[in-house]
Amino acid sequence: MDQEKNLFAPIFKVTKEKRRVLHGHNSMIIWFTGLSGSGKTTLANELEEILNSKGISTYILDGDNIRQGLNSDLGFSQVDRKENIRRIGEVAKLFVESGIVVLVTFISPFASERKLVRDMVDKDEFIEVYVNCSLEECEKRDPKGLYQRAKKGEIKEFTGISSPYEVPENPEIILETSKNSIKECTESLYEYLKRFL
Ligand code: PPS
Ligand code: MG
Repeated sequence: MDQEKNLFAPIFKVTKEKRRVLHGHNSMIIWFTGLSGSGKTTLANELEEILNSKGISTYILDGDNIRQGLNSDLGFSQVDRKENIRRIGEVAKLFVESGIVVLVTFISPFASERKLVRDMVDKDEFIEVYVNCSLEECEKRDPKGLYQRAKKGEIKEFTGISSPYEVPENPEIILETSKNSIKECTESLYEYLKRFL
């Protein structure tokens, strides 16, 4: 850690602001948080299609491209989940610097880590989207059969069953996926985001 003292922040000529001008829009993190099966990935997928059709440069960070690669050394203990989110936050910040709108879809169950990421970027660069869906409904959907396995004790530390999920206290927007359709949720999210793009 002592080496950190010998590090210097580089001054690059092409700044985040210049990259934003090049892209023709703002860059930010759209942070989806919610239980497994709540609809994070589905909503980000739908939103990305809309943004893409409007000429907005995007990228999705999801378990599939992060937990199998960059974070393949991490499991689901509290310590590992915290490190998972810290690293994803750092990567998301790089996307913001690069001028891209990054959609991030992880359970991110701990308020402290969500705050850590929020504090990594400027105030208007972090939009927390709480994908709210009751545990009962997520268990009913159980698209990957994980809840059933968790309840049998086959998966340890499963969010909502044997590991906590801390509900966001002040998210920028809440989407109710058990009450509204995916289309309705995506449209209201896009309506909300439009003003920041
Ligand atoms: S976390 O808490 O933010 O670090 O979790 P995340 O990186 O989003 O990974 C959650 C996905 O991994 C699968 N999975 C589990 N989820 C919760 N608890 C346990 N123990 C677990 N084991 C595997 C599950 O498919 C999650 O995907 P989503 O898309 O959320 O359903
Ligand atoms: Mg998912």
